[in-house]
Amino acid sequence: MTSADTSLQKDTRETRVPVLEARGLVKRYGPVTAIASGDLELYPGEILAVIGDNGAGKTSLIKALCGAIVPDSGEILLDGKPVTFRNPMDARQAGIETVYQSLAVAPGLDIADNLFLGREERKPGILGSVFRMLDKKHMRSEAKRHMSELGVATLQNIGQAVESLSGGQRQAVAVARSAAFGSKVVILDEPTAALGVKEGQRVLQLIRDVRDRGLPVILISHNMPHVFEIADRIHIQRLGRRVAVVTPQSHSMNDAVAIMTGAMAPPQT
Ligand SMILES: Nc1ncnc2c1ncn2[C@@H]1O[C@H](COP(=O)(O)OP(=O)(O)O)[C@@H](O)[C@H]1O
Ligand SMILES: [Mg+2]
Repeated sequence: MTSADTSLQKDTRETRVPVLEARGLVKRYGPVTAIASGDLELYPGEILAVIGDNGAGKTSLIKALCGAIVPDSGEILLDGKPVTFRNPMDARQAGIETVYQSLAVAPGLDIADNLFLGREERKPGILGSVFRMLDKKHMRSEAKRHMSELGVATLQNIGQAVESLSGGQRQAVAVARSAAFGSKVVILDEPTAALGVKEGQRVLQLIRDVRDRGLPVILISHNMPHVFEIADRIHIQRLGRRVAVVTPQSHSMNDAVAIMTGAMAPPQT
């Protein structure tokens, strides 16, 4: 028996209920099958990395989980209960926050405004309900609290325009926002792709902090050292389906890349 078989046995012995689960999702665009059979389990308190070659269907799978696309068939379960997300707001309301591949911040706005983008808080009473006045002061103090909770310490000035921040700091804002509002799951699509080494490390630490505060994280990444540094489990996607789930302990980086590209047979199920 190979080490791969052993790790799979461990997976099938899993008895906890996944926080988020996909079963047999299918998504076609005309003749193109983006997701052939989308299966994924995210367990409480873990960082699940999703890796795969370009076109393997990683983004499509994640988009289905956060309501950005509606799958043709298959099932999504949250805390073991079937859910239907018709749009990203549905998923957000269910507690799933996503940071998309493109840097998802509004450069002209300041940090506090970015944190509350799309979910601005109104002043209490008639000022908010009738005059639609924003509760800037409250949003600012909440933003400060979230940023300091996550140790984004250099962002002293919460009123600083995001365009004046570095790529890593911007990404930190996007991750902090997802952690602040996600109550169940945080999904990050390539959060360190555009960052330098130091900034990448900062964002990795931020992701660990998010997990350690109790929010499970799905991390899509091409960066194998990053994946092997922080993932608890690694979901390998190939040609629109999951071919293996490995761990940094059960497999080497070379093994994972070989499974991902088809050079090595995935562990047998
Ligand atoms: N909106 C779309 N229209 C047509 N084809 C798409 C669309 N989105 C994704 N695809 C196709 O689906 C496949 C999977 O894409 P994607 O999920 O972006 O993969 P990955 O994120 O792993 O690179 C690719 O062949 C891609 O070209
Ligand atoms: Mg992608």
